[in-house]
Amino acid sequence: MSACAVDSLQGRGNAGAFSKSNNSRLPTGLKSPINHPLILNLRKTISAVKLSLDLVYKTPPEWAHQAVENFDAFLQDHADCERKASAMAMSFVAKCPDKVEIIPELIETAVEELEHFQSVYELMESRGVQLPERMPKDLYMEELIKLCRHTVEERLMDRMLIASIVECRGAERFKLIADALKDEETKRFYRDLWISEAKHGHIFVKFALKYWPEKDVYERLSFLNEAEGKICADLEWRPALH
Ligand SMILES: [Fe+2]
Ligand SMILES: [Fe+2]
Repeated sequence: MSACAVDSLQGRGNAGAFSKSNNSRLPTGLKSPINHPLILNLRKTISAVKLSLDLVYKTPPEWAHQAVENFDAFLQDHADCERKASAMAMSFVAKCPDKVEIIPELIETAVEELEHFQSVYELMESRGVQLPERMPKDLYMEELIKLCRHTVEERLMDRMLIASIVECRGAERFKLIADALKDEETKRFYRDLWISEAKHGHIFVKFALKYWPEKDVYERLSFLNEAEGKICADLEWRPALH
């Protein structure tokens, strides 16, 4: 079992990552993902929620070395993932207009993911990389969505728990990318993203716990987490987040 990036974050007393001085070291013109007020509340959120999500499959560091070798293609996929993450948060708003307690945070998450997209796109622009006309199939998400149950409430719960797992996987892999990169500014950019995505892993589980019994949520989370580990282990490596 590998600890989710969130757990690593909790253990290392990460106050330095939230200092303003960190932003000044980002690539010129790139907006830091840690600027958002949600990120500044990260430690508060984590200590309040006290959730733990251990990813079953630990991505080998070699995955990141391969991804970094074809970094422009990785960036194209990364931008696409951020765009889809923003759309996913807004799709929850559309799917559950009655769950008013979580709508403001879902909107904030959608905005934050869109800011990530903007930051990645700026990085692409700085490297002369365009958005692709067409992306290959996202087999990782396709396999995860197949696991969702079919009643409206069960499907919603599964989608939220899958969102948590996907965010945690993103956090794990951004950390590996940061470690594999040589350029210091881009390394910091990915470390900041790691922090941001790690927080999202907790947000969606927290939402699920508001509406469904804790036992049901954790049993389902455990099942989906195991399944996600198998999916990751079986997928071919490519210069993409999944
Ligand atoms: Fe993101
Ligand atoms: Fe995210």
